[in-house]
Amino acid sequence: MTDTKKNESASQAILEIRGLQKSFGELNVLKDISLDVEAGNVVSIIGPSGSGKSTLLRCATFLETANGGDILYDGQHAVKQGVYANKTELAKFRTRFGLVFQNFNLFPHYSVMKNISEAPLLHGQSKEETQEYAMSLLKKMGLEGKENAYPCQLSGGQQQRVAIARALALKPEILFFDEPTSALDPELTGEVLKVIRQLA
Ligand SMILES: Nc1ncnc2c1ncn2[C@@H]1O[C@H](COP(=O)(O)OP(=O)(O)O)[C@@H](O)[C@H]1O
Ligand SMILES: [Mg+2]
Repeated sequence: MTDTKKNESASQAILEIRGLQKSFGELNVLKDISLDVEAGNVVSIIGPSGSGKSTLLRCATFLETANGGDILYDGQHAVKQGVYANKTELAKFRTRFGLVFQNFNLFPHYSVMKNISEAPLLHGQSKEETQEYAMSLLKKMGLEGKENAYPCQLSGGQQQRVAIARALALKPEILFFDEPTSALDPELTGEVLKVIRQLA
C-alpha cells in the first residue's frame, strides 16, 4: 500500500488494523498484520491459497476471533489488544461494513427482494424506504425486474450481484469481497467485476 495520503493528516482511515494475530492451534496464520483503508481506497489482498486472506477478512468482520492486535473502524476500537468490544457495540460496528463471499450465500427460500431487505427491516427501517432503496440497488446491479425471483432462478453472476445489493442495503462505509468471482464461469465474471468497478 502507498503512503501518498499520509500527509493529509485530516483524513481518517475507515478501517485500521494493527498488529493482528490469528492462530488455529499450532498454525500461525496472521502474524502481525497491519493495514489502513481510507475512504475511496480500493485495497486488494493478494496471496497464494492458504496464506490467510479469508482469515484476515473474517477477523476484520468478527466472523473469526483474532488472538491479538487492534481493529478500528473510523478511529473507534472494535478490538483492542485482542479484546473485543461488547456484543451491542460489535452489532453497531457490523452496520459499517458489507460482506460478499465466494459462494453468494443468499437465502435460497427468500425472494431477491427479501434477501436484500431483511437486514434493513431488522434494523427498524420502514418497509417503504427499504423496498425503494432495494429497487434502486437492483437497478444499479442491472437486475431490474428480478425482485420476485428466487436465487435458484438466477445465474451465478446474477446471484452474486444480488449478494452485492444485499451487502449494500445498510449503506456500509466499506465493502469486503472474498474472491467474489471464483465460483463463476469466466463469462459471468465480467458482469460482477463491472458492478464492483462501478461501485469503486
Ligand atoms: N477454522 C479453521 N480451523 C483451522 N484452520 C483453519 C481454519 N480456517 C482457516 N484455516 C487455515 O488457515 C490457513 C489460511 O486459510 P485462509 O485464510 O482460508 O487462506 P486463503 O483465504 O488465503 O486461501 C490455511 O492453512 C487454513 O487451512
Ligand atoms: Mg480464501
